[in-house]
Amino acid sequence: MKLDLGSLELGVATAATQIEGGDADTNWHRWAAQPGRVKDGSSPARAADHWNRVDEDIAVLSDLGVRHYRMGLEWARIEPEEGVFDSTALAHYRHELQALRRAGITPLVTLHHFNNPGWLEERGAWTRPEAIPAFLRYVKRVVTEFDDLVTEWITINEPNVYATQAYVFGDWPPGQKSMGRAMSVMSHLAQAHIRAYMMIHAIQPAARVGVANHLRVFDPANPRNPVDRVGAATLAHLFQGAMLDAMSYGRFRLPLTGSSSVRPGRYYDFCGINYYTRSWVTGAQEGTRPGADVNDLGWEIYPDGLARLVGMVARRYPGPIYITENGTADGADAFRPRYLFEHLRALTGSHAPVERYYHWCFTDNWEWIEGERPRFGLVWLDYETQERRVKESGWMYKDMITHGGLTDEAYARWVAPASLGSSALI
Ligand code: BGC
Repeated sequence: MKLDLGSLELGVATAATQIEGGDADTNWHRWAAQPGRVKDGSSPARAADHWNRVDEDIAVLSDLGVRHYRMGLEWARIEPEEGVFDSTALAHYRHELQALRRAGITPLVTLHHFNNPGWLEERGAWTRPEAIPAFLRYVKRVVTEFDDLVTEWITINEPNVYATQAYVFGDWPPGQKSMGRAMSVMSHLAQAHIRAYMMIHAIQPAARVGVANHLRVFDPANPRNPVDRVGAATLAHLFQGAMLDAMSYGRFRLPLTGSSSVRPGRYYDFCGINYYTRSWVTGAQEGTRPGADVNDLGWEIYPDGLARLVGMVARRYPGPIYITENGTADGADAFRPRYLFEHLRALTGSHAPVERYYHWCFTDNWEWIEGERPRFGLVWLDYETQERRVKESGWMYKDMITHGGLTDEAYARWVAPASLGSSALI
């Protein structure tokens, strides 16, 4: 055996807006309708048409031997108008969750994954504290509704990425550039998580609830230069450190602000990590390490970063760790097998209490402003015909699930011929 996964369980992840298709009224459907916002002009209305192909997709999950599936709900479908819940949408998700259960697949359900209903967006979304009670009303409805089918929840996906892209860089909806607003958004999202955590536990005492935290490694370009070192530490605090403490422990440090409705405590049953890359910091500027192996989007592929992050999390946030996303844009499926092997090797070698690894993504999907071009899936998607085809990396994943690790034969077949840094697209 080239790699023994021990008790680590493998799953796959998706998000509602990125795979469902259809015309839900979300911030993203509105954004994609504006010319020039999405690089290839595509919209989430097509995506993987998963809304109409749920049963087919669950059959593919079963073929792959997947037992853990992270999926998202589309809030705008469930609550298309403020305070009005759509029984057809709830019935659809019930059908999906029941079918997953019947197939022996445990769902881990994300309640918010960058996707706001249009009515919330019009009212300033998360810049305003009123978003919190609106979110809690939706969470209460959903958790009560699916009490018999779901016990594992992610309240919010990557609040730091959402706040930064939407309110600092302004290239995600609503396209604003205000550091102050970004900090209010992060603060409100952290407060919303804590209150949702408490609410879910009041409904389901045995539930497992956490956040999918986007964590990066921030390294100084020149470790001997104090300016680079301070820059890296400051960016890490602003982007992820302050948020992790706020959401996990209700400890709000500047520039985040708390509220009298949240108190210090412990607000996670697992710490979720979405890991993709490292930031290479020069002064206050982040970039990509020169000469690094990169994926089709130019992101450095840095497997050891995952081991470093789980080590940090295990020290500061004791308890189970779930890798809630890890994956890569590889249109040719040329280096994904090696990517998988090296990241899983880094993970198992870390000896941190990592219980789950969810690969991003199950299928190719609509990648926000990058549109349909980057391909993160273990399953190939033909957007025109909606045909699905398991990629070689998908078969390798199945093989690892079957054997609890990577056999010598699997290594020779899939990993040995693949090298990192063979991106065909950039
Ligand atoms: C997000 C996903 C996204 C992935 C790849 C993560 O930041 O949660 O929605 O598709 O990265 O970019």
